Amino acid sequence: MAISMSKKKSKSSKKVETKQLQFSDTILFKVLNRIPAAIFLLILIFLWFSDTRHALSPGNSFTASIKEVVDIAREDSDSIIGNRVQNNGSDDEVAFAVKVVEKQLGVQRSWISNTNHVASCEGKGIYVYDLPSKFNKDLVGQCGDMIPWTNFCVYYNNDAMGEPIAKLGNGWYHTHQYALELIFHTRALKHPCRVYDENEPKLFYVPYYGGLDILRWHFKNVSNDVKDTLGLELIKWLENKKPWLKNSGKDHVFVLGKISWDFRRKNDSPWGTRLLELDQMQNSMKLLIERQPWHVNDIGIPHPTYFHPHSDDDIITWQLNIIRSNRKSLISFAGAARPDAPENIRSILINQCISDDTKCRFLNCSSGGCDKPESVIDLFRDSEFCLQPPGDSPTRKSVFDSLVSGCIPVLFDPFTAYYQYPWHLPEDHSKYCWNSNLI
Ligand SMILES: *[C@@H]1O[C@H](CO)[C@@H](O)[C@H](O)[C@H]1NC(C)=O
Ligand SMILES: *[C@@H]1O[C@H](CO)[C@@H](O)[C@H](O)[C@H]1NC(C)=O
Ligand SMILES: *[C@@H]1O[C@H](CO)[C@@H](O)[C@H](O)[C@H]1NC(C)=O
Repeated sequence: MAISMSKKKSKSSKKVETKQLQFSDTILFKVLNRIPAAIFLLILIFLWFSDTRHALSPGNSFTASIKEVVDIAREDSDSIIGNRVQNNGSDDEVAFAVKVVEKQLGVQRSWISNTNHVASCEGKGIYVYDLPSKFNKDLVGQCGDMIPWTNFCVYYNNDAMGEPIAKLGNGWYHTHQYALELIFHTRALKHPCRVYDENEPKLFYVPYYGGLDILRWHFKNVSNDVKDTLGLELIKWLENKKPWLKNSGKDHVFVLGKISWDFRRKNDSPWGTRLLELDQMQNSMKLLIERQPWHVNDIGIPHPTYFHPHSDDDIITWQLNIIRSNRKSLISFAGAARPDAPENIRSILINQCISDDTKCRFLNCSSGGCDKPESVIDLFRDSEFCLQPPGDSPTRKSVFDSLVSGCIPVLFDPFTAYYQYPWHLPEDHSKYCWNSNLI
């Protein structure tokens, strides 16, 4: 569904890219030029399509302001460059920005527990706030009117996993990429370590569906004040709770099913809310399908896939299925071009892909090719490498669809995975994606 969304997203992608990702410096342009994966891919593409010598352009990739990095890093006493940064995009500054990200990922990795989390709930209680329904259930109730071209209601069945996909076997569902908030909430309510006494928990989970809150406004003509209203009401509500006041929100966690940028509206942009820019929101931990790489309390977690196995058997059955797959295609790409941006890396990859169909298969999401999850999964199950160029933002649900299908994701942007998932993916990129270390 991630992919089928992108068709529609492309219509608005210009708006998304200019409003949502509005940053003054093209740090990523520089970063990309240094990233071995990108260089590697260039070589790879030269090998496959030796007559098509396009340079890979970062196109409308995610870019971010060095100033923002510097502001964050100033608090860090040993950031010598931090105090000298002039926001001129120099090599020093880019190296510095990357250092900040890597340092923060190190901090996030240090939070991983080594003990078996199911063995005992001792000292690990989680308290689930019972929020007024306007912060969650009522938002789900607006499912028919979220965005003009999709009725979301069908995706909220089966505890938000969506309708089963019989063709793919047990545990497969048509799950929407923005379904995380409901899926997580449902699980937390049944969690063995859930506690009901607010004096007991280690962690407080605030089940506010902030992603749905903002999704319903994206394509409606309302003022920014309207968009911010519910988030501000939530903060007011929390400020009346003792546990929130006790540690200033430090032991509170939010799970947000959209990308961090949607909650970090800048200046007079009309896109998204200011929720994560508010002072009151800085201490708590935010789990998001895409983190803002310079905020240590933003934790990236994978997009929901279509696979929700119930048992080890479901997993083993699927693993045998994909191990036995004979992968007739070397490479595949399921995605949509950006028609307004012919120099976009997606367009370049699509042109190269269709120029040699013995090596590469293209599934055109612009013409509805990706609307059925089984078409995407079948393609990935048949392919060795799955191209994963950034779209409106660097992360992609499709990265996880390809991993689940046993197809090696080929990444073009360090923010697609390297700088996102310290809790889920190995530090050594070559263990899960195509990486220049392999050549
Ligand atoms: C850019 O800023 C850095 C410090 O952040 C400085 O060392 C460097 O000389 C500047 N480069 C240019 C071309 O101004
Ligand atoms: C949006 O709403 C404002 C205020 O009601 C109005 O002036 C403006 O024309 C509207 N814009 C569109 C594109 O409908
Ligand atoms: C993909 O589909 C769109 C919409 O039907 C079409 O305009 C475009 O040419 C197709 N792309 C390719 C490479 O076939």
